[in-house]
Amino acid sequence: MKAKLEQITKVALEAIEAATSVDHLNDVKVSYLGKKGELSKLLKGMKDVAPEDRPKVGQMVNEARAKIEEQMEEAKTSIMKKIREEKMKKEVIDVTLPGTKVNVGHRHPNQIALEDLERVFIGMGYEVVEGPEVEYDRYNFELLNIPANHPAKDEQDTFYITKDILLRTQTSPVQARIMETGRMPIRVLSPGRVFRSDEVDATHSPSFHQVEGLVVDKGITFADLKGTLQQWAQEFFGPETKVKFRPHHFPFTEPSAEVDITCFKCGGKGCRMCKGSGWIEILGCGMVHPKVLKDCGIDPEVYSGFAFGIGLERVTLLKSEIDDMRLLYENDARFLKQF
Ligand code: DAH
Repeated sequence: MKAKLEQITKVALEAIEAATSVDHLNDVKVSYLGKKGELSKLLKGMKDVAPEDRPKVGQMVNEARAKIEEQMEEAKTSIMKKIREEKMKKEVIDVTLPGTKVNVGHRHPNQIALEDLERVFIGMGYEVVEGPEVEYDRYNFELLNIPANHPAKDEQDTFYITKDILLRTQTSPVQARIMETGRMPIRVLSPGRVFRSDEVDATHSPSFHQVEGLVVDKGITFADLKGTLQQWAQEFFGPETKVKFRPHHFPFTEPSAEVDITCFKCGGKGCRMCKGSGWIEILGCGMVHPKVLKDCGIDPEVYSGFAFGIGLERVTLLKSEIDDMRLLYENDARFLKQF
């Protein structure tokens, strides 16, 4: 029996040594250590061994099993190591090869201008809020002191979904929505897309963007409005920029003004950019009309406020010196890449 055991062990160890893969090793394991393997077969012969010799034979079989198992583990480790080394050799990276070029997009000129603009107002403590593009007539017109039959409604003809629901013509309805919440004081900036029934040309589009500003608190005056816009213009267009307020009319502000800035190209001397005048019209603004405050649930005897509306495309075109608004919507990568 001893000779047989030594023979099995010898052959098993040889088979382990000859194995070149983990699968091979597993086969060896099954045929020598498995339930129907050589060692099990040998143990079946125990009944023919004299009872006093059985513990010794049992110990020998266990030793042989341990030896085979140990060799097997070692062989497995060395095979795995070899596989890993070969894999690493195959996967060597040639860092001198040219890489695959990834085309990364970048921000649209409108977005660049908007983020620059927002940064200035956020610095002054404004919060950025957004309102719906599909709006009720009540917010877009009625609460802004533009009742049915008001001529301003003709100038801002739009796309109606029903008689009372439309695509907003301005971002000013966000003013009414914010005031209605009753939270005071108010200091918000509201950028967004607006719609008008306009023909497309170099300065018009049926869909464009505005940035609305609104401040309401106790004791807000026209001086606050002037100081705020002056500060913005200098930070946004350059420290030399001057602002000029021209009287104007908007139904929802009283008094109202249009604001011009000195041309940042020529500094006010007159050039192609400002059409020789030295000034560039930039936005509409005014003190919130007491009727608008009242209709939105704010007591005009206690509170006052100012508002302004900036045409985002206008500012983008000026800042990036683009002379046709249509270029902003065509999404030609060759154009957009330049900003
Ligand atoms: N909503 C106006 C427009 O689209 C622009 C405007 C003017 C907004 C005066 C204002 C403002 O907030 O006070 O023409």
